[in-house]
Amino acid sequence: MTESSFIHRFEPATIAGSPPLLLLHGTGGDENDLLGLGKMISPGSALLSPRGRVLEHGMPRFFRRLAEGVFDEADVRHRARELGDFVADARQRYGIAAPVAVGFSNGANIAAALLLLKPDVLSGAILLRAMVPLSDSPKADLAGKPVLLLSGQADPIVPASNSAHLAALLSQAGASVTRKVLPAGHQLSQADVTLARDWISNVAAEAV
Ligand code: MLT
Repeated sequence: MTESSFIHRFEPATIAGSPPLLLLHGTGGDENDLLGLGKMISPGSALLSPRGRVLEHGMPRFFRRLAEGVFDEADVRHRARELGDFVADARQRYGIAAPVAVGFSNGANIAAALLLLKPDVLSGAILLRAMVPLSDSPKADLAGKPVLLLSGQADPIVPASNSAHLAALLSQAGASVTRKVLPAGHQLSQADVTLARDWISNVAAEAV
C-alpha cells in the first residue's frame, strides 16, 4: 500500500527540529479538523493528517465499532497496521522523523492501538479522551516513550476507570505516562490545549 491510499493533508515544518505531529480526528471528522489544534500546540511542526478510512453512516473513523465504546477488535488491529504502513510511507515521502500522535476520541483510540501494536511508528502521543482499544492488549515495548493522556471528569463516553486502565497498560509497557483528569466532558477544553502545548514543548526540549 502507499500513503496515497489515505486521503491526507501534509504541512511541512516551518521551524527546524520541531517534532512532526500525526493528527488523528474523531468520528465524523476529516483531515482538516485538527490542523488548527496542531498549530496551536506545536507551532512550526510538520503536520501529517490522514482521514479515517472506515465510514459509519457516512462519518469517517479509524476503525469499525459494534456500538459506542464496543470495538471490532479484529478491525482495530487491521486498521492500526494499515495506519502504521501509511505513516512509514509518508515519512519517506516527506522526509520526517517518527511523529508524535495527537488523537482525539476515535483518533486517540487508534493512536493507543498503534502504540500497543506497532510501538516503533510513534515517538510519543497525546491522547485526548482515549479508551482502552483492545481487551487483549499485546505486550509492547514502549520504553521511555512519552504519552500525555487527558480525560474528562464528566465524559459520558469514556468512564474514568477505563482511561485509568489505559494509563496503567501504557505505563506497564514502559511508556512515560502523564495522565490528567480535567473538569470537562468528551469535548476538548482550553485546558487540553494549554496542557498539550506545555507537554510537547517539554518533550521537544528533552529530545534536543
Ligand atoms: C470510538 O468509537 O472510538 C469511541 O467510542 C469514541 C467515539 O468515536 O465516539
